[in-house]
Amino acid sequence: MAFSLKKRDLALLGIAIVILAFLWQAPPESTSRVPFDDTHRRFYDMVQADGKKAAEKHCEECHNDQGVPFPEGHPPKSRCLFCHKME
Ligand code: HEC
Ligand code: HEC
Repeated sequence: MAFSLKKRDLALLGIAIVILAFLWQAPPESTSRVPFDDTHRRFYDMVQADGKKAAEKHCEECHNDQGVPFPEGHPPKSRCLFCHKME
């Protein structure tokens, strides 16, 4: 009885290690970050002062079909900074 319990514990431990190893291996966030350049620097201040939602309102002034187009197949883009992290 005690033995089989230990075996089960070891099995659970093994599974936990596999899961942890998998998470460890997962690639880091791959979505491109908001560049810290002259164009975007003011948004870093804006996020600090007023939060992400306030800053995001301005992204599509440039990021639109006429300006800087989105890559093909870009996911729904309501919350830019939810996916594109700041540097
Ligand atoms: C004044 C125009 C303008 C505004 C406003 C603007 N961008 Fe940009 N953005 C650009 C231009 C031009 C580029 C491409 C050249 C570059 O990297 O600066 C770019 C590039 C990017 C890139 C791609 C970087 C890369 O690695 O290729 C991301 C992500 C981005 N912007 C996110 C944002 C987000 C999020 C906002 C709103 C907070 C925003 N931009 C607002 C002009 C703008
Ligand atoms: C649901 C997640 C998500 C949201 C929301 C989102 N994006 Fe993206 N965006 C991506 C992914 C994924 C890519 C393609 C991989 C990459 O290049 O980062 C991408 C690519 C881009 C690129 C091209 C980056 C490059 O390196 O060429 C720009 C510019 C960009 N997004 C701007 C924006 C802007 C501006 C908004 C808000 C209006 C926005 N994104 C909202 C996920 C998102």
